[in-house]
Formats: sequence, structure tokens, C-alpha cells
Amino acid sequence: MAHIAVIGAGYVGLVSGACLADFGNFVTCIDIDTKKIEGLQRGVVPIYEPGIEAVIARNTGAGRLRFSTDLADGIKKNNVIFIAVGTPPGEDGSADLRYVENAARTIGQAIDTYTVVVDKSTVPVGTGRKVAGWIREELEKRKLHVPFDVVSNPEFLREGSAVYDFTHPDRVVIGCESERARGIMKEVYRSLYLTETPYIETNLESAEMIKYASNAFLAVKITFINEIANLCEKAGADVQDVAKAMGRDGRIGAKFLHPGPGYGGSCFPKDTRALVKIGQDYGEPQCIVETTVKINEKQKLRMVEKIEQELGGSGSVNEKTLAVLGLAFKPNTDDMRESPAIAICEGLVKKGARLRVWDPAAMGEAEWRFRSIRDKLFFAADEYDAITGSEALVILTEWNQFRNLDLPRVKRLLTLPYFFDLRNIYRRIEVENAGLRYVGIGK
Ligand SMILES: NC(=O)c1ccc[n+]([C@@H]2O[C@H](COP(=O)([O-])OP(=O)(O)OC[C@H]3O[C@@H](n4cnc5c(N)ncnc54)[C@H](O)[C@@H]3O)[C@@H](O)[C@H]2O)c1
Repeated sequence: MAHIAVIGAGYVGLVSGACLADFGNFVTCIDIDTKKIEGLQRGVVPIYEPGIEAVIARNTGAGRLRFSTDLADGIKKNNVIFIAVGTPPGEDGSADLRYVENAARTIGQAIDTYTVVVDKSTVPVGTGRKVAGWIREELEKRKLHVPFDVVSNPEFLREGSAVYDFTHPDRVVIGCESERARGIMKEVYRSLYLTETPYIETNLESAEMIKYASNAFLAVKITFINEIANLCEKAGADVQDVAKAMGRDGRIGAKFLHPGPGYGGSCFPKDTRALVKIGQDYGEPQCIVETTVKINEKQKLRMVEKIEQELGGSGSVNEKTLAVLGLAFKPNTDDMRESPAIAICEGLVKKGARLRVWDPAAMGEAEWRFRSIRDKLFFAADEYDAITGSEALVILTEWNQFRNLDLPRVKRLLTLPYFFDLRNIYRRIEVENAGLRYVGIGK
């Protein structure tokens, strides 16, 4: 069993650390955020993620998982160090590598025996070699020659099903050029390796590229169906029928063919922009991805126009009260990073609307994300409280609990009968039967 330190106990670091401990490894999750670590030591889990609490409790109880703020100590005591810090977008769209560099330099300042450094953060092609360079520089300052290898092991988990995804991945990607490190990585992922999870070994650059190419492809797929949906609206087709039939084609696949208000979250927006920048830097523009980024921004604003159009055209949103259900960028998470709800709510407020908002998990995050439009917002206690006295209902996130609204009650609570289903989770007929005016996407 490997002895692992995970630097960064955020979404990816915490889930990876807990699940790697569940595979039988000994794991220390380390973060500079003292409050987060103190909370974890008391059993307080800082993210909303189904199933994670049980995995953490099981493994802390078994003595395989611990939490610490002592980076140097964690690095010294373990021979496999995962870097799972954030790589937020910089001003020009490129990934900001300052946290990765910081972690790498700290590793160089602390290791004194052979160590495998595993990059799990999403980083531009070439970063693995930079990480090796930063570690080497720090070792040179210490006048030491300590052997180490750098591995790229991108993460594909999805927020909301992160534990399942980590423990049942479609593939494990290991970018690495050393036999010794490859052997240790097989130990780390022994449970998956033995169950014949596809295990893809590549060089560092390919592993780094796989992550960006995968995320960008999914963003393109969503954007493609969004554009087709917009065309369906004009052409009299129903995008749900179109997507269903397209998805039955094994070469296309049904996933990520659901039209909506645009993609958001902590990964797709930043990773597509980073890939655009990488393409520009190498003189190989990624035109499809560049266009995708632009269309996605337009799609969010298009939702505001769509609502305005339905309510009676230019100026019709002014002084109206709208109920907004769903603020997180997708269900089963409290994450609002780049959620379409932000642009859409701000757009509606700009046009003079007042909003009664509700999300089952993201209300805390919404409090500070919406600070600039706070005085136009009412934070409701549940979905029906949001709908009460509103003139229209707008569904922005497909939480399960929004799929089964009591439609006659919705009709009674709304003062005008507008029902905007921007995730296509209802059938027109059932909504219209309740006396509501249904507006979906692409139909
Ligand atoms: N969130 C996802 O769904 C997801 C999925 C796949 C890949 N990724 C990638 O994984 C990486 C991490 O993403 P995240 O969502 O977990 O980020 P996050 O912001 O939730 O967590 C990052 C953590 O790193 C900590 N940190 C920063 N510098 C540190 C240091 N020097 N030492 C110790 N801790 C430090 C921060 O305090 C924070 O807790 C990113 O590159 C992201 O693109 C994220």
C-alpha cells in the first residue's frame, strides 16, 4: 500500500484522498486553509457531495485517512505526493499555475528520499516538466540530489457524483516516463487495476492534453445541441426528439445532448478558455473551441431575451417578480462557479426584474455571489415560497425535486401563468393541462 500526501483538500483533493484511502492506501490530505482542515478533523465536510461523508468517516475511523496543515511534514512522511490545488483562469484565459508552482517548490524544499509527484490538477501541456524544473531548482538551492519522478494523472470526476466517478472511472490516465513511478502508480490504483478498469499509460504531454481535449469535446457537444435547439425553435422541430434519435447512434452517444441555458461550473468554462490559449501559444488555433466559448456566453444571455420576449417584448421584465429555481451550475452540488444562473439572474435584474430565488444546496454561496444585486433578490425558503406571488417561474437547474412540482399549486401561487423550463424537464402537455403557459428549449 502506498503512503500518499494530497496537497489541496478542495473538491478533487478531498474526494481523491478519501477514495484512495478507501482503496487501502494511507493518505494525508493537506491544505493551507486552516479552517477547512480543522473542520475536517472534527468531521465537518466542506463540500456538498453525495456519499463523501461516509467514505471519510470510514477511512478516518480505520486510521487510513488524516488531515493536516503541515505541508513539509506531510511531504517528508509520504513517498507519493498528489498535487490537487486549484488552477483558476488568469486574465488572458490561461491557467494560473501559481498554486501548482507553490506546491512544487514546497515539495523541492522538503523531500529527502525518492518521491513520486503526481499532478492531478488540470494543467496546460508542458506543466509536468515545469513542475520537475521547480522541484529541481529547490533541490539545487539545498545542494541535494534527491531522485523523484513527475506523473500526470488527470481527474475526470463530476461534481455531484464524484465518489462514484472516482471509484468507477471510465479510464485511469497515467502520463509518466519512469518504470519505477509507473509501478508505484499501479500500487496506488491497485483496486482499479485489478478490476481491469482501462488503464492508459502515456507520456506527460499526452496525459495533460487528454484532460483538456476531453472537457473541450464535452463542452462542444453541449454547445452543438444548444445551437440545434435554437434552430429547432425557428424550424418547428422538437430538439428532444432530435437529440433522442441522434443519441441512439452509437457513434454519437446520448450523453451531453441535453440543451439548456449554457454550460458552467468549475471546469468547462476555464478549461475551454485555457485550451484556446494553449492553441494560440503553439500557433495552432483551436477554432471550434474558440467558437464554443463565444456561443456559450451568448446562450446564457439568449435565455434572458427569451424570457423577455415571452413576457411581452422589450421592457416587459421591468418591475416583474420572477421565481428562479436552481442556482448551482448543476444538480447535487452547491457549486455556483460560472453557473449560468449568475449571468441570467444579473441579466434579468439589469432589465428591472425582482427575483425570488431558491436552490436546495447553493443558497449560502448565492448570498455572496449575488452581493451586487442583493437588493433585488429575495432568498426563498423553498420552491413554493419562491413561486408565491411571482409572475413567472424559471427553472435553471434540473434538481430532482423540481421535476415533480405540484403544478396546480404552482398555478395558484403564480400571479401570471408563465412556466420557463430551461432544462426541458417537463412535458409541455402536463404543464399546459395545469393552466400554465409552457416555454421550454428547442421545441
Ligand atoms: N472540481 C471538479 O469537478 C474538477 C474535476 C476534475 C479536475 N479538476 C481540477 O482539479 C484541480 C482542483 O480543483 P478543485 O475544484 O478541487 O479546487 P478547489 O478550489 O476546490 O480546491 C483547491 C484547494 O487547494 C488548496 N491549496 C491551494 N494552494 C495550496 C498549497 N500550496 N498547499 C495546500 N493547499 C493548497 C486550497 O486552499 C483549496 O482548498 C483544478 O485544476 C481543477 O481544474 C476539478
